[in-house]
Amino acid sequence: MKKIYITTPLYYVNSTLTVGGAYTTIMADILARYHRYSGRQVHFLTGSDEHGEKILKEAKEAGKTPKQLADEIVSHFQLLWEKLEITHDDFIRTTDERHERIVQKVFAKLKEKGLIYKGSYEGLYCTPCESFLLESHLEEGKCPQCHRKVDTIKEENYFFKMSEFQKPLEALMSNESHEFVYPPFRQNEVRNRVLEGMRDVSISRSVEWGIPIEGEKDQFLWVWFDALVNYISAIGYGENEELFLSCWPADIHFLGKDILWFHAVLWPAMLLALDLPVPNTVFGHGWWTFGGEKISKSKGHKADPLEIIDEYGADALRYFLAREIALGSDGEFSVEALETRFNTDLANDLGNLLSRSLSMLEKYREGKIPKTDSLDDLDKEVIQLIEKTIESYHQQMPKADYFNALKQIWLAVQRVNKYIEEKMPWKLAKDPEKSQELDNTLAILCGSLKTFAYLVAPVMPQSAQKMLDQLGLDQKIDFDSFSEYLNISFLPEGHTVSKERFPLFPKSN
Ligand code: ME8
Repeated sequence: MKKIYITTPLYYVNSTLTVGGAYTTIMADILARYHRYSGRQVHFLTGSDEHGEKILKEAKEAGKTPKQLADEIVSHFQLLWEKLEITHDDFIRTTDERHERIVQKVFAKLKEKGLIYKGSYEGLYCTPCESFLLESHLEEGKCPQCHRKVDTIKEENYFFKMSEFQKPLEALMSNESHEFVYPPFRQNEVRNRVLEGMRDVSISRSVEWGIPIEGEKDQFLWVWFDALVNYISAIGYGENEELFLSCWPADIHFLGKDILWFHAVLWPAMLLALDLPVPNTVFGHGWWTFGGEKISKSKGHKADPLEIIDEYGADALRYFLAREIALGSDGEFSVEALETRFNTDLANDLGNLLSRSLSMLEKYREGKIPKTDSLDDLDKEVIQLIEKTIESYHQQMPKADYFNALKQIWLAVQRVNKYIEEKMPWKLAKDPEKSQELDNTLAILCGSLKTFAYLVAPVMPQSAQKMLDQLGLDQKIDFDSFSEYLNISFLPEGHTVSKERFPLFPKSN
């Protein structure tokens, strides 16, 4: 059966990651979890990009071999993914033998098909972006992506005949029934560049830290040609047909807008050259910025995800990044903005709703879910809102529209908080004639909390699990429980919630 194949970019091992790198992986993880909970088979891939001039330079400066540097940084990536509870199925390193072998086979195949030829490259190169540039691309004489100085190089290189794929790429970008690049405005940008005319690209460098080319002493594969192949080498292209067919074509490649051209133009051209289908969606998300500039460690911006996790917890970072900006837009990153979301949305709206509701259930009904009967209009309104929230959630989540999904969930959370103010259970408790109304209120509160736990689970898995634990639901969040509990049903009458209470969103200091 075809799995949903989700990928992140392979992060460069020149430095540890900022929240920017963590962002892409978290966004991919949310989708992977949503699909898994919904009963779909998923293959989720991430990894590291270890070759090229940039890594070589960085390693030399640090007095290490590139492999030593890569090993150190990769262990940092792995620690970060563990702390963020990333559920990738595979982690590929471009120095893995399985990858290098398949990249060489891809090169040989394209060469045999006459799609790779030798030529001479004389032009511009941006080492931080590892990209070949034309004079016309430059902005004020600098790289248009990272705004740094570019180098002029002259080399005998191998070229890939990308120009051969002009027409199929135009068609791919002009298919009105299927958006290949997401969000759609980015597809327009890419299409316009394709329409300017595609040139053949140089795919080798005389930089010795790369995958060797057979028969060449001083030519190694260009790091982008090498790295893009990871999406098929990791699933055994040409070697493990069963795995390959169960994954390819990828459903979604997540990446930042800075590397959209490589994924939306070069990569599909390489796939077409290999007679392979192109991915379904290439999602080019926006940047987290500092003073309007893309956050970047090498520019001295400080936005260390590990520090944020230590202080606020992994879920708070996951939530903030998914909720603060729509996937596709840019957003200014600040710990103050994260703190505000933490205090208002998480600790106040959701955390307090849980603790208030459970203490009232304890106080008025000894922690046991009461029987509901004769619901009034207010009860029904709240139930209907949650029902509608679930409906739109299932439309937004597969499109990675976490921003709107969370916005709507929080409108429902706030509505339920208001419902407590309207019902005033503390008053109902004093009037024996209002006993049924109090029962209904408490049952609706606990039922909503159970639903909220499942709704937020792909974004905040730890907190969702903690909510279920406090609701006395001894179950893991998985396909079985997701399909059974992500609905408007109440908890069973007589079910006892846990007596153990702890803040849902504690702060470390
Ligand atoms: O480009 N805001 O690797 P990379 C949002 N190795 N996303 C950000 C970000 C920010 N401030 N900073 C980084 C490469 N990212 C290549 C990829 S794939 C075959 C090879 C995210 O380490 C964003 O997704 O420079 C960007 O595309 C990714 O990190 C790549 O980071």
